[in-house]
Amino acid sequence: MRAIQVNEYVKGPLDLQVTSLPTPAPAASEYLIEVHSAGTNFFDLLQIQGKYQHQPPFPWIGGAEFAGTVLAVPTSKSASQARFKIGDRVFGATQGAYATHILAPEHTLLPVPNGWSFEDAAGLFITASTSYGGLVHRANVRPGDWVLVHAAAGGVGLAAVQIAKAKGATVIATASTERKRQIARKFGADYAIDYRNKRWPEEVKNLCAKHRTGNGKAGVDIVYDPVGMIDVSLKCVAWNARLLVIGFAAGKVEKLALNRVLLKNVSIVGLHWGQYARFEKETVDTVWKGIFDLVAQGKFKGIAFKDENFVGLDSVPRALQALGGRETWGKVVVKVIDDEVKSKL
Ligand SMILES: NC(=O)c1ccc[n+]([C@@H]2O[C@H](COP(=O)([O-])OP(=O)(O)OC[C@H]3O[C@@H](n4cnc5c(N)ncnc54)[C@H](OP(=O)(O)O)[C@@H]3O)[C@@H](O)[C@H]2O)c1
Repeated sequence: MRAIQVNEYVKGPLDLQVTSLPTPAPAASEYLIEVHSAGTNFFDLLQIQGKYQHQPPFPWIGGAEFAGTVLAVPTSKSASQARFKIGDRVFGATQGAYATHILAPEHTLLPVPNGWSFEDAAGLFITASTSYGGLVHRANVRPGDWVLVHAAAGGVGLAAVQIAKAKGATVIATASTERKRQIARKFGADYAIDYRNKRWPEEVKNLCAKHRTGNGKAGVDIVYDPVGMIDVSLKCVAWNARLLVIGFAAGKVEKLALNRVLLKNVSIVGLHWGQYARFEKETVDTVWKGIFDLVAQGKFKGIAFKDENFVGLDSVPRALQALGGRETWGKVVVKVIDDEVKSKL
């Protein structure tokens, strides 16, 4: 197989190289998958530099999210016990996605939805579940709610926009460029605001004052925050608002004066999606059932970045560079195999 193997920490993604390695043999409990597409994540960039909380022992293969076809099934299960069979299209996340082949235990895999490309499926595992878990499970989004989604054109942001809309909410999106705001609107946001303008909370308040009634005139009911903007967002929330702490893409962990939480009668709600598989397995199944229902109803679509094409493992360094440069929207996905070219041959 070919893979991006990391033998030592690198300064940046352009130092990564593709090498040839023996195709790994699956353990009795593992599937062998042929990777068609690999999703990129900011934590991949941290990991290759040795700055991530999870650093495997050297040598290791970079990347975590993928979609592909099953080449071999676990030998520890009978055919009726295994969830997937040879040839099934699956997506998932485990260490080593920047490769032509990957080994994965069953709990890290899900079926690619009907009609979905590998490219779109490779970006689904982390974004959709984080945003559904946050908005539906933690913040209890309801029809009629107003939801403010920060960095709405980012990976989890675009997923959040679609889920909030599907649940009957009105969405105000924030993003740093006109292209990103255009994308947020295309995926369903009702309003899109430039949050580089320091007066953006006023804009949110004005929209709510104009279009909402009762307590809603003061602001939104839910804030979805993957950036680190909870404190400033408290300026434009309604009574009983829920503010979701999703991440700190701006690079700084916020500190908050709790008197403002009391005075505004709001809830600050955290979400650590990756830990649900450990502490609350039943919710993982409920969340994915909810996502697959939205997909089947056509209310949740793939969010792969389309402004530039990343084809072949050799394009992983450039894909990671683009992701780190804040140049992209949605999910940056590398087509490890170009299925369109393959189908024409
Ligand atoms: N809690 C969880 O379980 C969970 C799960 C998944 C991800 N996350 C976290 O959620 C955050 C977003 O993840 P993602 O996959 O959506 O990432 P992403 O696709 O890279 O999007 C991040 C967005 O943040 C905005 N941003 C604001 N300040 C930035 C800065 N200084 N540098 C880079 N981007 C900046 C950018 O939008 P603008 O250019 O429009 O500002 C960018 O589109 C990350 O911190 C991630 O770790 C948390």
